Amino acid sequence: MPVYILGIESSCDDTSAAVLCDTAIRSNVIANQQVHASFGGVVPELASRAHQQNIIPVIDEAIRRAGISRYDLSAVAFTRGPGLLGSLLVGTSFAKSFALALGIPLLEVDHMQAHILAHFIREEDSPDPVPPFPFLCLTVSGGHTQIVRIDDYFSMEVIGQTIDDAAGEAFDKAAKIMGLPYPGGPLIDMLGKEGNREAFTFARPHIPALDYSFSGLKTSFLYFLRDKLKEDEQFIEKNKADLCASIQSAIVDALMDKLLKAVDETGIRHVAVAGGVSANSALRAAFLKQQEMGDFTAYIPEFQFTTDNAAMIAIAGYFKYQRSEFAGYSVSPYSRAGSRSQV
Ligand code: KG4
Ligand code: ZN
Repeated sequence: MPVYILGIESSCDDTSAAVLCDTAIRSNVIANQQVHASFGGVVPELASRAHQQNIIPVIDEAIRRAGISRYDLSAVAFTRGPGLLGSLLVGTSFAKSFALALGIPLLEVDHMQAHILAHFIREEDSPDPVPPFPFLCLTVSGGHTQIVRIDDYFSMEVIGQTIDDAAGEAFDKAAKIMGLPYPGGPLIDMLGKEGNREAFTFARPHIPALDYSFSGLKTSFLYFLRDKLKEDEQFIEKNKADLCASIQSAIVDALMDKLLKAVDETGIRHVAVAGGVSANSALRAAFLKQQEMGDFTAYIPEFQFTTDNAAMIAIAGYFKYQRSEFAGYSVSPYSRAGSRSQV
């Protein structure tokens, strides 16, 4: 009998629902929230309100596109954390009541683990191999930057991480400094395509071990522009493409430096990338370049599985379903990794 898992993701500003049939994707519906763009970042209160408006139509659409009835579902998987508590509560409450009403099990999923497990989602026309255990994953999103060693689906160890800003945050803050709307990461990627990545250089962080730091880079970018704008008010407008290409290159180089160090230290030569920033064209190109140079085998996700989506929640839920690791109805969300106590 095929296993149908409904995944629900509501940790930040995307409301998403997806259906998997075993590990094969049947639907993945995402409602983005435009309401935050003019605020320069996600407003938590507005995010949870938008999730409440979106969640029923998004789930309805995911089940419809999957070509099944809700009564065919085997279990409901939801993001328990980390994320914005108000947003997580919307997905968690809905998942609980839906599973209870249908009389099927509930599966709680960690958002960061799900970004990594997205590599195991199968698509009909994608013969891409899945990474073999053990592998390393560079997990880069708006809230996290981690190098993770994965020994099994749920046996993961963070061996390096940022001590301040996340890589996505670095992209978004640099964009904000240039007056671009939120989220700026994709815009820097797009504008940087026309620019020269060697046009400007910024302070490179020197952090021990496998950890990262991006706050110094942001400050260096800010001061650089402040000085240039004093000389020429139009500096950003005139140099936008070069600025985007240069700051992108600084972030990608910093990410790759530590990742290569991790490959050397662990001897693990299967390396994946996950999270919203894995949509970045320069980072994807850097992965392929290292693969060509024979440093490691690269696993790069499909675009639809890079930024937040519910298919990744469903696949993580599927592996928990196989282990009969079900959640109880008293389960509550957690906002930060490592704060999983019931509230
Ligand atoms: O994983 P994600 O969707 O949400 C979190 O869990 O945080 O990641 C969102 C982050 C944002 O910071 C966004 O600017 C960044 O991913 N991002 C990108 C690109 N696409 C999304 N950053 C650089 N280049 C991109 N193409
Ligand atoms: Zn995410």
